[in-house]
Amino acid sequence: MASKIRRFDDLDALSRAAAEDLSAVVRAAVAERGVATIALSGGSTPARLFKLLAAGGRDALPWDQVDLWWGDERTVPPDHADSNYRMARETLIDPLALDPARVHRMAGEADPAEAAEDYERQLVHALGAPPVFDLVLLGMGPDGHTASLFPGTKALDDGGRWVVANPVDSPVTKGATVRITLTAPAINAARHVRFLIGGVDKADALAHVLEGERAPERYPSQLIAPPTGELVWMLDNAAAAKLRTA
Ligand code: 6PG
Repeated sequence: MASKIRRFDDLDALSRAAAEDLSAVVRAAVAERGVATIALSGGSTPARLFKLLAAGGRDALPWDQVDLWWGDERTVPPDHADSNYRMARETLIDPLALDPARVHRMAGEADPAEAAEDYERQLVHALGAPPVFDLVLLGMGPDGHTASLFPGTKALDDGGRWVVANPVDSPVTKGATVRITLTAPAINAARHVRFLIGGVDKADALAHVLEGERAPERYPSQLIAPPTGELVWMLDNAAAAKLRTA
């Protein structure tokens, strides 16, 4: 399905639109299937969105029919400052007192390969193979990575897996580490995929990803192309500044 680009003045406006978009996807999924499954992104960009959803209150959405998963996680304990789960817990899960049984975090504190295998088992049990999310939220790094699919790393060759442990050594990750991540096929199976990208530091990579030559080894965000799902790039003007066509 063709992707769409939506531009916003700033991250606040982008986050408000993303909250409305997520709410519409959740309501439709619950109406059609009785449940909505979302893979949350990490990093800093989605925090504003999560806070807006929390500010909307528990009754704004059918949260008891929403299952939260993650697109990736750092190999740190869940209370670590770098934990994607911790950021979501502080901004969304605790404020809305979401049911822990519906919050499926990746075990960043465990052996990465075992944590990835366990998460893949949970996902396939819950969503099938491939696991079909209603919504996958993604960010993009200044190097063109998304989730924890980093340039030149082994997770780019998914090997038929849906979740993998991905060794990476990058300035973006402050050196050598291992990340747990959905693979591109797992993301591409989703009904809806949304990139939320803000900031001038993303402008160069975004121009390459969207308008440059196809080079997914260097720009892994180019791997995201759901064949049947709806892909929307939600960009602030700073991140979109170097786009020629959008
Ligand atoms: C992570 C994310 C990662 C993130 C981008 C953008 O674990 O860091 O999943 O893919 O979305 O690095 O991060 P910012 O939103 O902090 O710019």
